[in-house]
Amino acid sequence: MELADDLVSHPYDVYRRLRATAPVHRITGPDGTAAWLVTRYEDVRAALADPRLSLDKRHASAGAYKGFSLPPALDANLLNMDPPDHTRIRRLVGRAFTPRRVQQLRGPVRRTADELLDSLGPHGSTDLVASYAAPLPVTVICDLLGVPAGHRPDFRIWTDALVAPDPARPEAAKEAVVAMLGFFTGLLAAKRAQPADDLLSDLIAVRDEGDRLSEDELMSLAFLILFAGYENTVQLIGNAVLALLQHPDQLAALREDPARIPAAVEELVRFEGPALLGIRRFPVEDVTIAGVTIPAGETVWVSPAAANRDPERFPDPDRLDLSRDATGHLALGYGIHYCLGAPLARAEVEIALAALLERFPELALAEGDPTWRRSMRARGLTALPVTY
Ligand code: HEM
Repeated sequence: MELADDLVSHPYDVYRRLRATAPVHRITGPDGTAAWLVTRYEDVRAALADPRLSLDKRHASAGAYKGFSLPPALDANLLNMDPPDHTRIRRLVGRAFTPRRVQQLRGPVRRTADELLDSLGPHGSTDLVASYAAPLPVTVICDLLGVPAGHRPDFRIWTDALVAPDPARPEAAKEAVVAMLGFFTGLLAAKRAQPADDLLSDLIAVRDEGDRLSEDELMSLAFLILFAGYENTVQLIGNAVLALLQHPDQLAALREDPARIPAAVEELVRFEGPALLGIRRFPVEDVTIAGVTIPAGETVWVSPAAANRDPERFPDPDRLDLSRDATGHLALGYGIHYCLGAPLARAEVEIALAALLERFPELALAEGDPTWRRSMRARGLTALPVTY
């Protein structure tokens, strides 16, 4: 089945059909290779916890998904690893990426959100992806990693080139990889020469003390944090604002009681989280899911977006209901690879929504349909035109 067009234009209809009729389905993946897609909540959650489903590409058979073809210096990251390497690195990162660090970022996130909104003036129209959803996470990730102001490149160009490649510019992905490699090499050298109170300096120190993070692992980690932390957050903020604007009754209730924003964020993440096609795994042995045996080495995509709309788990799943208990959704993963940045992601979306709703009581969708990026991997908007 050719999924690409359908998934971009009406993913939840496709997923409803697949859950009902073919919960483990043979598909053509984003790079044209054959793969399996898992869509039911129970199967997705079980797959994410199944140690037989590896993240390590060395378990992929010859024709399986090749990913972004990153050089080793960017590819030695948590999302390509199984225990025991994964356990070792995740523990080290956990020591540096602490709740205190996320707490410290809350003030700067709010300040950045306010500054971005200031620059829009009191009334007008804007593309909220370009003016708000994209620049906010750039600043947050740069603050987190310790990228000095004035040296903040356009992450959006790099990440778009990998996640939503432009068929007219096939060389863009390679250029982005070269640029990222250069950027992180320079940044690591600068932090080594002059450590500061930031995550990257801490990660270097953790490495240097026990000599436990290799140079490739350090670079790859910085890349992953940028990539996972930036790319997903842009999409999530954009998708969440769109969902609210398309559900005026829910939005009005939230405006009346902003203390409900944190719980609302959970439902918004369930409803329109960006992990669309989903999470990639390779079976180390033949694995049977929902009666279908997937041969070792083939690519398996487990879809949080499909699982989160499974009526067996979330009644009336296609209804945005900000008062529902959406905990248990899988939009941030599950198991040992559960999103490392989840507390930061939640804080960013909460603060982004709170600042936006406070500032613009008249916020509304502008004429014309918002457009979705042509990406099977991550659901997100190319633009979100609004008036305020
Ligand atoms: C805002 C939206 C975000 C979403 C929807 C999201 C989603 C996810 C998902 C689904 C996974 C699991 C992947 C897998 O099991 O293969 C994951 C892992 C990860 N995320 Fe996030 N993420 C977000 C934000 C962030 C942020 C802000 C950061 C860091 C600053 C971050 C860093 C990571 C890392 C390092 C991993 C790998 C963890 C591991 O393999 O142990 N993410 N994320």
